[in-house]
Amino acid sequence: MAVSVDRILRWKQAGVPTQPIAVLTAWDVMSGQIVDQAGADIVLVGDSLAMVALGYDTTLPLTLEDMLICARAVRRGVKNALLVVDLPFLSYQTSVEDAIRAAGCMLKAGAQAVKLEGGHEGVVERVRHLVQWGIPVMGHVGLTPQSVNQFGGFRKQGKTQTEADRILAEAQALEQAGAFCIVLEHIPADLARDITKSLGIPTIGIGAGSHCDGQVLVTADVLGLSAWQPPFAKVYANLRQQAIEAAQQFCGEVRSGKFPV
Ligand code: KIV
Repeated sequence: MAVSVDRILRWKQAGVPTQPIAVLTAWDVMSGQIVDQAGADIVLVGDSLAMVALGYDTTLPLTLEDMLICARAVRRGVKNALLVVDLPFLSYQTSVEDAIRAAGCMLKAGAQAVKLEGGHEGVVERVRHLVQWGIPVMGHVGLTPQSVNQFGGFRKQGKTQTEADRILAEAQALEQAGAFCIVLEHIPADLARDITKSLGIPTIGIGAGSHCDGQVLVTADVLGLSAWQPPFAKVYANLRQQAIEAAQQFCGEVRSGKFPV
């Protein structure tokens, strides 16, 4: 049965399966088909695709148009998982109206929900409006890569009590505003546990320990396709090396006349 926002929203309530939620990213039709056929509950067209698929150093250069092309491609490959798409940097920060327009474009492209980074008052206001207009929202707190310049790098967040209190309050405010689940990125495991316990909606961790209601990783890292993986990623295959070797074999066979036969 296809996964719905409602099912994720009620995941922690009685009568809904309590096993952890598995989330993987995708950036094109093939990666979408692969993670959907693997049985991911949620497929996220994350703006990390700016780095893993488009070669940028950060997620900041990604445009709304770039994301729409990728979202439509992934949509064509995903049949069962819930499809969530990130709103790129500068597509929702400028005003509530811009946020509604950007999120609406994502839904027209086939997304079932959007993800926004941050939990300060401005983001919470946008989440409230989006939800009122029928656009489901996944929150994202802790290390929010669109704020990499503010953080001075892709650094772990929530290490001081003040920061931890702020991140907990942000997660609670996002729930109040109507978010259906929240990504907790690169924060201490005990903070992720406290946030998870305090919320009625599921938390999805990445580099946030084992106490979250689900886990997400970037699929290029899981498959060993990316040139670099963050320390918290687990690499389950070495497809980059296998692909290089297959391509080398092809080049060699063409040059030696072995292919075509
Ligand atoms: O962009 C992304 O892939 C993400 C996940 C890592 C949570 O936001």
